[in-house]
Amino acid sequence: MEFEKRHGSSSSMDLFYEALNDDLARYSLLALGCAAAAYYIWQLTVRFSDHLRRLSTFNDDSQRYFVPAHEKFSWIKNHLIYAPMFRNRHNRELQLSQAINMGTLPSRFHGLLVTGVVAMNVILCVVTVPYASDESTTAGIVRNRTGTMATVNLIPLVLMAGRNNPLIAMLHVPFDTWNLLHRWLGRIVVCEALAHTFAWAIPKAQDASWSAVGEYITGSSFLTAGLVTTCTSVALLVHSPSPIRHAFYETFLHLHIALAAVCMGFLWVHLNGYAAQKYLLGAIILWALERATRLFIIIYRNLGRASTTATIESMPGDAMRITLRLARPWKFRPGQHIYLYIPAVGLWTSHPFSVGWSEDEDKMSDEKSLPMAHQDLIGAPQQTTLSLLVRRRTGMTDKLYQRAADAMGGRITLRAFAEGPYGNIHTMDSYGTVMLFAGGVGITHHVPFVRHLVAGFADGTVAARRVTLVWIIQSPEHLEWIRPWMTSILAMDRRREVLRIMLFVTRPRNTKEIQSPSATVQMFPGRPNIDTLVGMEVENQIGAMGVLVCGNGSLSDDVRRVCRKRQSKSNLDYVEESFSW
Ligand SMILES: Cc1cc2nc3c(=O)[nH]c(=O)nc-3n(C[C@H](O)[C@H](O)[C@H](O)COP(=O)(O)OP(=O)(O)OC[C@H]3O[C@@H](n4cnc5c(N)ncnc54)[C@H](O)[C@@H]3O)c2cc1C
Ligand SMILES: *[C@@H]1O[C@H](CO)[C@@H](O)[C@H](O)[C@H]1NC(C)=O
Repeated sequence: MEFEKRHGSSSSMDLFYEALNDDLARYSLLALGCAAAAYYIWQLTVRFSDHLRRLSTFNDDSQRYFVPAHEKFSWIKNHLIYAPMFRNRHNRELQLSQAINMGTLPSRFHGLLVTGVVAMNVILCVVTVPYASDESTTAGIVRNRTGTMATVNLIPLVLMAGRNNPLIAMLHVPFDTWNLLHRWLGRIVVCEALAHTFAWAIPKAQDASWSAVGEYITGSSFLTAGLVTTCTSVALLVHSPSPIRHAFYETFLHLHIALAAVCMGFLWVHLNGYAAQKYLLGAIILWALERATRLFIIIYRNLGRASTTATIESMPGDAMRITLRLARPWKFRPGQHIYLYIPAVGLWTSHPFSVGWSEDEDKMSDEKSLPMAHQDLIGAPQQTTLSLLVRRRTGMTDKLYQRAADAMGGRITLRAFAEGPYGNIHTMDSYGTVMLFAGGVGITHHVPFVRHLVAGFADGTVAARRVTLVWIIQSPEHLEWIRPWMTSILAMDRRREVLRIMLFVTRPRNTKEIQSPSATVQMFPGRPNIDTLVGMEVENQIGAMGVLVCGNGSLSDDVRRVCRKRQSKSNLDYVEESFSW
């Protein structure tokens, strides 16, 4: 065998350890699978009980049974699930300076998960190694073990990186959590790859010298490929820290994908003929499937008889409203987002945006759209539009804003591709009391919930009896962002009975600007006192209470703190969307 020529014949003990390594690698996959299965069962229970709660509230306007806290569960929520690692900080970014953003601290629950994965890997790498035997055997086993573990970890690593990861929908775990796990698994893989390399190189250097090690490596394509793999994996680690990722997201992403491909290519060569190659193959297949799914979704959603277009309107306060006319009708649910491609400004790059509004409009009555061929009108009378609200940042969104602002009337229509829908992890349908906190463009995430809950209240299909929307904006001009959507919502049936809107304007030019249009729509200058607002709702709580936040990190952290404080008395759930990962 070519293999034996290269490495000398294996003893029966070596074969035993080879088989054991492979078993342990499979156990690690099994352990992750079991954790996912356990979480799935837990999620099913939660969803089922939420569903029962929703059903039982249809004819019950006080929903008293659901108001008090569940003692043990609220303790867990307060101290584990909603808790930041230390004290109150979770989403507010750790900044060294204005420009350098060190990212956010994981929550306690996330910390526990990460610790579990790290501990499992450390244990699997060090158990059953016969430390008493001679050094080269020990090193050989550790080397083979860490190599196998690094490879097997590529499977969850790749799975977690994908936006089409099926576990997102199954486990109701959002992409940002998978992304966190992806980063930690990546760090683990790099450590294992380094351990693997040094467990080979150090004994070799002790036997001969480091220069001999260099000669070994250059003399064998197997070893060269291995070294390149380790080096690219270190490069992947070095270019990925939060400050770099957030400052140059597109560059980071392209480099990351390119390096990952190089790394896997060389690993493939390195593993030729080895048992661990099948794990690499698994990872590559998962990656290919994810990419194929994306391509399929883009083609299916955007290339029909017509193609998708985006109309971009520039708005005051560095924002824009984007209305997508989709090639195919498309159902979307509150809380979902899409990835938007606009080749004219962003080439092939895609950016995630929450969908703020959707409408099925008649193509015929839409005087803005271009005249179409007769068959088009008969075949597809309905067209779905999705609307987004986008804040101008410094990359693609900046270019897009410029294009729209320079165009006549501040609006421009461009060819676009929408990929989705993604997300929709949480529903607010089973809460008697719902509070939605939004900061700035975060409102776009909440509008569909408000619309859905008000419609559900009128139809008697949701538990909601009190819905409060709190929106914090800098200037009254920003109301313009969602004016058409808000006008529709305010005109909805029985809206006054269920919905209250509180607007907080942090930088009004003068107090005359701040006028409350009605008793159910109030406007205030300054920042809200979250504690008081939540306290007021808790006093009058109907059923279970759900609090949803979408805004900057310090708003989320504030609301989280207040919600944790109230856990002991009321049945209160806290959900956040941070618009980043
Ligand atoms: C689930 C989700 C929903 C979102 N919904 C909205 C929304 O409704 N309205 C809105 O204005 N913004 C939303 N965002 C944020 C929006 O995606 C970014 O602001 C946008 O991609 C910035 O593009 P840019 O090239 O101008 O970014 P830059 O100015 O280069 O970067 C600004 C920030 O955006 C992040 N970012 C840049 N490109 C991407 C990308 N392709 N994917 C993910 N993050 C990126 C960067 O890490 C950086 O922190 C959402 C983000 C997520 C994750
Ligand atoms: C390590 O793996 C190589 C290649 O499969 C094998 O030849 C060697 O015997 C293994 N060593 C030990 C100690 O298991």
